[in-house]
Amino acid sequence: MLTKDDLVAAIAHIQDDEHQLPLTEIGLIRDITTNKDHAALSVLLAPNLASREQELQEQITSALQKSGITDVHIRFKHISNEEKNDIIAIKLNKTVRRAPTLMNSPLVAGDSGVTFIAIASGKGGVGKSTVTVNLAAALVKQGKRVGIIDADIYGYSIPEMLGIKELPQKQGNRIAPVESQGIKVISTGFFVQGNKPVVWRGPMLGKMLGTFLNEVEWGPLDYMILDLPPGTGDVALDVHNRIPQCAEILVTTPHPTANHVAARAGEMAIQTNHPILGVIENMSYFTDPTGEKHYLFGRGGGQKLADELNTKLLAEVPIQSSDAPEGSGSSPTLFRESSEQWHIFMELAASIVSKKVD
Ligand SMILES: Nc1ncnc2c1ncn2[C@@H]1O[C@H](COP(=O)(O)OP(=O)(O)O)[C@@H](O)[C@H]1O
Ligand SMILES: [Mg+2]
Repeated sequence: MLTKDDLVAAIAHIQDDEHQLPLTEIGLIRDITTNKDHAALSVLLAPNLASREQELQEQITSALQKSGITDVHIRFKHISNEEKNDIIAIKLNKTVRRAPTLMNSPLVAGDSGVTFIAIASGKGGVGKSTVTVNLAAALVKQGKRVGIIDADIYGYSIPEMLGIKELPQKQGNRIAPVESQGIKVISTGFFVQGNKPVVWRGPMLGKMLGTFLNEVEWGPLDYMILDLPPGTGDVALDVHNRIPQCAEILVTTPHPTANHVAARAGEMAIQTNHPILGVIENMSYFTDPTGEKHYLFGRGGGQKLADELNTKLLAEVPIQSSDAPEGSGSSPTLFRESSEQWHIFMELAASIVSKKVD
């Protein structure tokens, strides 16, 4: 009887037209079942490639018949954008992972001494930017020189969160980052006219990260934190491609079923050989004035995601009540230094600095 592995081997020579890679290698063959002389599988196909169905059907059926399967059932499914990105990621990893022209930023060079950490999430609103600014501030507090690249093209919020009102200045033919709370910041938001949504696409997007890395006068840095857009889009891919050493922290909420896309983002990091530092579960619980914890948004989501990605749960950050008095800093989004949340970020920063987490 044919096992799943045998089946994959039997059709491993069949290539995808668009990417010129075996279908089995880029994850386009799914839902494989085998039973005696029956086999069933799904093929993911872009809607515009529907004309290939017939040909693939024949290729797969004939290959499996040679292996003794008489009854082959093939289903064709439309590929989602996220699945497409995963394929691009696999392909990048195999072929053009390090285009030489992209590697000329001294910041990104292996010996630059800068540790890159990307903050990623499956969806928006889970606290990615909150983690970005608080982790950056906690690293500054520990004497480190820290930059933030706010690469969330559609939902940039770092300037506002850090109370930044001014725009970056030109410094010769370079751009000087804006400094707030001891953190050097460059945001996509600085490059938007008025408050119009940005339509950064393809080449422009690719240029964005390159510009931020190459044309900004960062000065010496120990850490660069990148606030990524949610999901596994072009920006995340570009980061994976241009900054191969960039580590990733995934932010999620405690609801155990809310992690599908976060898991995908993490898998993309794994496929492209990027280290995952771990998972931060945000809005984990609310501590009432008597000290009792209330798990308002469910429980276990962070741990579950960490398990799925074979990594650590780095922290569970509680919900800060909005009626708490505002802190000493001018920015409302940095947690107060006396708070439970700040304490958690200081501990996290300390373990990152001492490389207990890596
Ligand atoms: N632990 C927390 N307690 C209370 N509010 C939080 C917490 N984390 C984030 N928030 C709030 O939730 C909203 C979304 O957070 P944000 O960091 O902007 O998410 P993202 O960057 O993932 O879209 C913001 O208004 C933020 O102030
Ligand atoms: Mg954000």
